[in-house]
Parts: sequence; structure tokens; C-alpha cells
Amino acid sequence: MAAVRPRPPVKWAGGKSQLLPQLDPLFPAGFNLYLEPFVGGGAVFFHLRPPAAVLFDNNRELLNFYQVVRDNLEPLLVDLKRHRNEREYYYAIRAQDPEEMDPISRASRFLYLNKTAYNGLWRVNRLGQYNVPFGRYKNPRIVDEENLRAVQAALQGARIIPGDFSQVLQYARPGDFVYLDPPYQPVSATAYFTSYTATAFSEEDQERLAGVFRALDRRQCQVMLSNSDTDLIRKLYRGYDIQEVSARRAINCRPERRGPVTELVIRNYS
Ligand SMILES: C[S@@+](CC[C@H](N)C(=O)[O-])C[C@H]1O[C@@H](n2cnc3c(N)ncnc32)[C@H](O)[C@@H]1O
Repeated sequence: MAAVRPRPPVKWAGGKSQLLPQLDPLFPAGFNLYLEPFVGGGAVFFHLRPPAAVLFDNNRELLNFYQVVRDNLEPLLVDLKRHRNEREYYYAIRAQDPEEMDPISRASRFLYLNKTAYNGLWRVNRLGQYNVPFGRYKNPRIVDEENLRAVQAALQGARIIPGDFSQVLQYARPGDFVYLDPPYQPVSATAYFTSYTATAFSEEDQERLAGVFRALDRRQCQVMLSNSDTDLIRKLYRGYDIQEVSARRAINCRPERRGPVTELVIRNYS
């Protein structure tokens, strides 16, 4: 295991770094495999650094990036060093079609855009095309080599599987720990950013997720889920242990909505 504790290598909406001190006492004392169906920036995974894990997310650019960091970090580092933080260059890279690229250039494009785009957001239009404008940062750190090496070490024991969260049911066994951090149920119609991918996470998805939570519970996994404090979420998880934690909303374009909000942590163990 690397001496340096890895940090999330990408900026990601809903990142859990700032909540870790409150989440730490809520993780289980011990478990076999770690499974994270909405891994995003991976704040919890990189914090726990479990020796064996299965990570999922339906953002293919993100998961290709993790696969390349795990298996091909050296050529990725070489490719990353060629990028320039310039407006025209940025739009030329943004215009590339990732589906046509080899995995290493594709991962390099992904990290470059994440570090130089406005707000570091990953947002796509209905066609799935990345559409965030140039961020005009003075000196963005595109290549943090030391952290990427620590991330690579943490990923060595991880399977990385793109696609829908429900795939977790094919991998989870009794005694495993599953941490679920889905796109949150909005507290009001416009409150939250929910489009990491071309299709938003709907109320039906929240219900489908609660079904997966219950199936994992029946299978004797330890399951922990983060979500917003809404009537629907409280109703879907009635009967389970529900804790309140206090979060700062970092990514919100309206400053008055950046104050502390209560979020829920739901567990089938205590
Ligand atoms: C709240 S973020 C997770 C944040 C993460 N815990 C972190 O610390 O950065 C939710 C993630 O769910 C992913 N996602 C959205 N819909 C999904 C689906 N149906 N199946 C799997 N992943 C999905 C998004 O791509 C996003 O990365």
C-alpha cells in the first residue's frame, strides 16, 4: 500500500470528502469485499482503501479513467503532460469524440477537461456530449503525479465495472459492505444538479435503488446509503437505522443555497 493516502483524483459533484469525519464512525467494523455502485470521485473508497473492492458507475469516461490509472498509469502520465490550459486548445479537446479514442488518450482527455473546465463539473447534454465551458483558471494542476500513483496503488485490488448500480447484486455476498451514494432525491424541483450523464436519476430510480438495498439486506450484506432528507427517502427506508449528518453544498450556482443542509445516512446495521 502506498505511503501517501490518495485523494479523489477528480472534482466530482456530490463528493463525500468533506463529510468523512461524520461518516467515519458509521462504517462497519469489519467486512469482506467492499462494493460501491456509485463511485464518482471515490472519496469513501480512497479513504477506506479496502484490499478487495468492486466499483461501479454509469459514467463511462470516469470508469475508463480509473481503469487506465490502475493498469496503464505511465503512458497516461506522459500523455497528460502535453496538455495546455488555453481556451482554443480546450475547445479542440472538448470537441473530440471519446468513443473514437484509445483508452489512454480518452482518460487523458477526461482528466484534462475535469481540471480545466468551469467549476470542474462533468455535465453532458441530451446527446451525451460534454458541454462545460472553459474554466479560465490561472494555474490548474492537471497532473498530480504523486496522488495518481497513490490512486493507482489503491485501485490494485479493485474490479471496475461500468453500468447501472443494480449490477451490484451479481457480486455481493454475505459479509460484504456496500456503500451507496446515488444522485440525491431533489429537495425542490431545481435545487440539485443531477445530470452527470445524459439521463437524470428519477424517482423510479430511487425506488429501484431501495429495492436493491432490501435485496442486499436479505443477503446479509452490511449496507449504508447516503441521500437527501426528503419524505420519499424516509418512506422508502422506514424501519432501517437513519442518522442525520450536516453537509455543506459546495456545487450550487446560488450562493444562498450553499449553507449547511441535513442529509441522511441509512444503514441496515448499527
Ligand atoms: C453523488 S455521486 C457519487 C459521489 C461519490 N460518492 C464521491 O465521493 O465522489 C453519484 C454518482 O452516481 C453515478 N450514477 C448516476 N446514475 C447511475 C446509475 N443508474 N448507475 C450507476 N451509477 C450512476 C453518477 O455518474 C455519479 O458519479
